[in-house]
Amino acid sequence: MRLIVTDDYSNMSRKAAGLIASQVILKPNSVLGLATGSTPIGIYEQLSAWHQSGELDFSQITTVNLDEYCGLAPDNEQSYHYFMTEHLFSKVNLPKGRQFLPDGMNLDADRECERYQNLIGLLGGIDIQLLGLGHNGHIGFNEPSDAFVKDVHQVELTEKTIEANKRFFDSIEDVPRKAYTMGIGTIFQAKKILLVVSGAEKAGILRQVMCGPIWPQVPGSILQLHPDVTVVADQEAAGELERA
Ligand code: GLP
Repeated sequence: MRLIVTDDYSNMSRKAAGLIASQVILKPNSVLGLATGSTPIGIYEQLSAWHQSGELDFSQITTVNLDEYCGLAPDNEQSYHYFMTEHLFSKVNLPKGRQFLPDGMNLDADRECERYQNLIGLLGGIDIQLLGLGHNGHIGFNEPSDAFVKDVHQVELTEKTIEANKRFFDSIEDVPRKAYTMGIGTIFQAKKILLVVSGAEKAGILRQVMCGPIWPQVPGSILQLHPDVTVVADQEAAGELERA
């Protein structure tokens, strides 16, 4: 794993956006695996700014997102569809038909998981997968459990994740209990992985992810086995790495 430590969130965002931008420049028809949560927002702002100043062209890019809540329609403000439209899709020249997320409104979980897994295969796999890190070590919505799940699947969100994500909803009761997510195998098929982590409250879990045992109770720890992972962390998030 390659580690880049930056002074603060804004430099973390700029560095990570630079890595995505270089992928877009080097291979204009790349498949970008994208993530939601508050951490990548600065990256999307930077990519949008570079697009608006004419430096970055997304016209041949395809995107696939990691995950989506079950039961939320794309026009629901809390859905990841809505998040992506607000923070990136509406700001850059990504072709409309090439922005893919799981369909949270498809109640047939088996079919939806199979459809999304096949879709990623048909696209030829992901060139670079952006990941944030959950407070419990989750990546996408791969929650701590007894085993790593390989393919796209439906998950029951843990209480910790529901608690962490309630800040985006009116009340905790509104947070969906289930989501569709890429599995660990789906994420691992990405040629490159870019993990972004910010803030002191993630320092302990980042240390476990990068330096601890590889086990499904810390899902992100499996990234130690991927051949091309870059972690961009701000100083606060990297605070416990030196000690480790
Ligand atoms: C959600 C998403 C994850 C994301 C995580 C961390 O649970 N499903 O993909 O990494 O939140 O979010 P944040 O960056 O807001 O801490």
